[in-house]
Amino acid sequence: TKQTGLTSLDYGFVNTAATRSSITYIDGEQGILRYRGYPIEQLAEKSTFLEVAWLLIHGELPSETELADFDERIRRHTLLHEDLRRFFDALPHDAHPMSVLSSAVSALSTFYQDSLSVSDPEQVELSTIRLLAKLPVIAAYAHKKSLGQAFLYPDNSLSFVDNFLRLNFGTLAEPYEVNPVLSRALERLLILHEDHEQNASTSTVRLVGSTQANLFASVSAGINALYGPLHGGANEAVLQMLAGIRDSGESVQKFVERVKNKESGVKLMGFGHRVYKNFDPRAKLVKQSADEVLEALGVHDPLLDIAKELEEVALADQYFIDRKLYPNVDFYTGVIYKAMGFPTRMFTVLFAIGRLPGWIAHWREMNLDPQTKIGRPQQLYVGSPERTLDR
Ligand code: SDX
Repeated sequence: TKQTGLTSLDYGFVNTAATRSSITYIDGEQGILRYRGYPIEQLAEKSTFLEVAWLLIHGELPSETELADFDERIRRHTLLHEDLRRFFDALPHDAHPMSVLSSAVSALSTFYQDSLSVSDPEQVELSTIRLLAKLPVIAAYAHKKSLGQAFLYPDNSLSFVDNFLRLNFGTLAEPYEVNPVLSRALERLLILHEDHEQNASTSTVRLVGSTQANLFASVSAGINALYGPLHGGANEAVLQMLAGIRDSGESVQKFVERVKNKESGVKLMGFGHRVYKNFDPRAKLVKQSADEVLEALGVHDPLLDIAKELEEVALADQYFIDRKLYPNVDFYTGVIYKAMGFPTRMFTVLFAIGRLPGWIAHWREMNLDPQTKIGRPQQLYVGSPERTLDR
């Protein structure tokens, strides 16, 4: 403090050198989100998860042939090594699926040692394809493990999303019919999560990757960053918050008062954002989808009514207006995932599957750039000046 005159209170934010990237553009004031220049609204409506993944990774939309080949290569890599399937036997049935996901993704670098290079184009492509193909399978196995149900093998005659739905909800006892409403809704939600610039988990992937750690190790670190309730874990925390309000019988108004009084750290989960100080364009699209999906599934969930009332009360309250707190992408997604049949603990896993192409795109962009240096965030020292050890 003597040296710098700064105290930790002044020390709100260290302005690290901005990362250069051409993948995603966000305007927090205008509520704009574009992947490689394309507005998220158009991609969510007209594209597919794999087409957008290709766009994020390669910078341009794929030709029909490129997309068909990309899709085919991913289908051919959905099987896990049998020893990796056995890895799940060692885990407790009540393991959190996000812990399973990060552990199993890290383990991929032990099974696929022929694709660990960060510079060999063929190995980079192979690790990309393997991760896109196997993450959904690992996620579904984590879900099945928590249910005590047998794992299915992937059915590569199905699309990326339909294969994932079948692995989660199909059983050995009967054939599984994919519900097109679920399929289209999940495709849209995954597209909305594919990338988001330098968020905490993507920055983690870039920082780990900047040491030339392989893709599996870098993404495993990103999964762990996403796990936290202030980041991807918020979609799980929102459902717990809504269920808490429902089960306590507490009014929404009363809950909002407790949030404003900052009682024991209670927050309005799914609200607020580091960048969006206006609406999060994704939240608007998810809210629309929530109404459509629940109606199409014939589901009425009182938690959706509570969420809508919470949004209405908060957006009219000066406390939230002054702090520019609006619903973010996590506020409504959980209600849809719940209606689809996913347990709450799988919600952040779904976020990770959506975010995977963005993590891969950033890791590749960084490794392709010869200017890339190892990450080393700056520090502003506010500790003790020099002193003497008198002994
Ligand atoms: C994601 O970065 C990304 O792009 C992330 C993401 C992505 O796609 O990768 O968009 C995904 O992580 C979305 C965010 C999900 N997290 C949550 O919903 C958790 C709840 N939200 C908060 O924890 C918070 O809003 C953050 C962490 C998201 C943002 O925090 P900020 O911008 O650093 O805000 P802050 O903590 O400095 O708070 C400013 C003020 C404080 O009040 P005062 O001290 O000024 O009185 O706003 C208050 C905070 O207490 N505040 C909240 C609040 N968020 C901030 N008060 C109640 N409820 C909240 N949710």
